Amino acid sequence: MSKNFDVIVIGGGPGGYIAAIRAAQLGFNTACIDEWKNAAGGPAPGGTCTNVGCIPSKALLQSSEHFEHAGKHFADHGIQVKGLDLDLAKMLSRKDTVVKQNNDGILFLFKKNKVSFFHGRGSFAKAADGGYEIKVGEESLVGKHIIVATGSNARALPGTPFDEENILSNDGALRIQGVPKKLGLIGSGVIGLEMGSVWRRLGAEVTVLEALPTFLGAVDEQIAREAKKAFDKQGLKIELGVKVGEIKSGKKGVSVAWTNAKGEAQTLEVDKLIVSIGRVPNTIGLNAEGVGLKLDERGAIVVDGDCKTNLPNVWAVGDVVRGPMLAHKAEEEGVAVAERIAGQHGHVNFNTIPWVIYTSPEIAWVGQTEQQLKAAGVKYKAGTFPFMANGRARALGDTTGMVKFLADATTDEILGVHIVGPMASELISEAVVAMEFRASAEDIARICHAHPSLSEATKEAALAVDKRTLNF
Ligand code: FAD
Ligand code: NAI
Repeated sequence: MSKNFDVIVIGGGPGGYIAAIRAAQLGFNTACIDEWKNAAGGPAPGGTCTNVGCIPSKALLQSSEHFEHAGKHFADHGIQVKGLDLDLAKMLSRKDTVVKQNNDGILFLFKKNKVSFFHGRGSFAKAADGGYEIKVGEESLVGKHIIVATGSNARALPGTPFDEENILSNDGALRIQGVPKKLGLIGSGVIGLEMGSVWRRLGAEVTVLEALPTFLGAVDEQIAREAKKAFDKQGLKIELGVKVGEIKSGKKGVSVAWTNAKGEAQTLEVDKLIVSIGRVPNTIGLNAEGVGLKLDERGAIVVDGDCKTNLPNVWAVGDVVRGPMLAHKAEEEGVAVAERIAGQHGHVNFNTIPWVIYTSPEIAWVGQTEQQLKAAGVKYKAGTFPFMANGRARALGDTTGMVKFLADATTDEILGVHIVGPMASELISEAVVAMEFRASAEDIARICHAHPSLSEATKEAALAVDKRTLNF
């Protein structure tokens, strides 16, 4: 006997669980299937983000930042710390507790919203009537609409599979049991910088090998340069324009043969190696081919602008489809699809999806970079304001970086905002709101911002577009 639902969501990460909640809010009889297991084999909804991504990485970033502050920065505030010690086991278990709180929170939200939760792998099967049903273990579910939100997996280097002992994906990188003396990372993208920062702060000597000749190519060049300076100063060794060769892993650690930008052969000997070279969409076990669900050459489910797949009433959202692999992008798509199923007009504005790299300094941006505007031939004005000239940043003792505005030369509409510095992750929200409302730089420049606050740097950068900063 099959169970019938209006909406079945496959995957309980940010894309899937949020789609399920929104569908239930809209009055649909909704099921969500997720296969993630906790250490005891029980359900752990929340996907990559909750279990081995956003949440545990931010927990460790916070803990390691406290450790570094206590060791290096408290003395500047007149606080002497004696006998500072690292209890890594406690730090890791705190991170696990934060993860569990999020898993439990999602199970609670399912109950509250009357979403039926199934723990197991969901896969498409052909039904007797020529349609399809979703199999979860022994159960058979039939839905009027299916939303696929099966996420992504870490990409391995060809010939070097993850063993999570020496060669680590994001999963192993978040549970190293002792601080490695030497840590190597392949890829200086978002994970490389965040995980490299965590383990460097805890005492590892970190080397990052990056294939591209430019640092953070997707980030505004001026901001990326400023960030690189800060990372260099912290002792994060980043080698650009490298070619990674043979990787040997043994009892003593990992040896990486690589060629530097000048073409010279090098060897990196490390205790552990994190490979963070991007992620691949995940459709393992879904039986996409069996029902003719179309995938592109990268393995992503092909969708249109509304997240519709080639199969009728089958939708897909999040990391498993095109677009940035970000939790909030997945969530927005999940909400939009549930609303479209209800005949509403949910939409996702790709131009105003913020990006944040949670290093110190934090890097955050929304909209176009200066290099993108130049390439597109758009005439723009730029304004920057350094945190060095911001009173709150001085009081905090963190004056690295700046806020940068890019506005249309004719209309003054904000085209992009880029921040490197303290609390960039929070400051960027103002820019996102402003861009959603198609504000001008002058709009922000004329808004009263609390003093003393880091957000005054945002106002001042907007003033700088018109060359009338007040404090610099
Ligand atoms: P996922 O979160 O991957 O969830 C998919 C779920 O589906 C998983 O639980 C999986 O087990 C389940 N599943 C897969 N196939 C099946 C099946 N057949 N049946 C049942 N269940 C199935 N993004 C941010 O925005 N901010 C951050 O700070 C951030 N930090 C990150 C840090 C790290 C280390 C990593 C790796 C990623 C980070 N991300 C961050 C990216 C973010 O985690 C992803 O963009 C987000 O999780 C995508 O959500 P999703 O729902 O599409 O997929
Ligand atoms: P990434 O795409 O951010 O960076 C991968 C880096 O590896 C790139 O710089 C690339 O040039 C480099 N690279 C690729 N192949 C290489 C090779 N063979 N040798 C050396 N370098 C190589 O991918 P990453 O860091 O794995 O993260 C995956 C995704 O997860 C991110 O793109 C992002 O969508 C998401 N994420 C988001 C976070 C956030 O929002 N704060 C945090 C962590 C991850």
